[in-house]
Amino acid sequence: MKKELKVPLIKNGTVIDHITAGNAVMVLHILGIPKSSSSTVSVAMNVQSKYGKKDIVKVENRELDPKEVNKIALISPKATINIIRDYEVVKKHKVKLPDEIIGLVTCSNPTCVSNVKNEPVESRFKVICKDPARIKCYYCEREPEDIADRII
Ligand code: CTP
Ligand code: ZN
Repeated sequence: MKKELKVPLIKNGTVIDHITAGNAVMVLHILGIPKSSSSTVSVAMNVQSKYGKKDIVKVENRELDPKEVNKIALISPKATINIIRDYEVVKKHKVKLPDEIIGLVTCSNPTCVSNVKNEPVESRFKVICKDPARIKCYYCEREPEDIADRII
């Protein structure tokens, strides 16, 4: 079978691979692209892979911080983060949700203590399932269904 490269290789930067098909746009949003980042970015969506369809995002000359990686884990539990230096993959790891998510998602309960404006309480969720991600508010026990829309 002929193997073709959908997106050119990059020299330096980060490749986020095995993104749940259709979620590349959300990954861009999480990374603040294009609003607060001027990195060169390429995106491939619905690419056929060994395990079905996936999306890929390649960001040149940038590495991700742990908060960004955890947000990606919430919407794409099988994503891999590949660090590229001088065209070589020098590091590869699968995203992994921690047992608790603090300050990355807002609670869907408007009366939750984490949503009351004059209370300086950061949102806090227990991760009850990592794939697909399911989280439960530490304060009010509400489980948001639309995690992707609640990412801060
Ligand atoms: N990649 C890239 N630029 C490079 C090297 C790699 O854009 N200079 C991309 C590849 O296109 C691929 C990802 O980084 O999407 C991981 O590369 P590699 O580990 O070589 O691919 P696989 O072995 O297929 O990865 P996996 O086993 O994680 O699916
Ligand atoms: Zn809550």
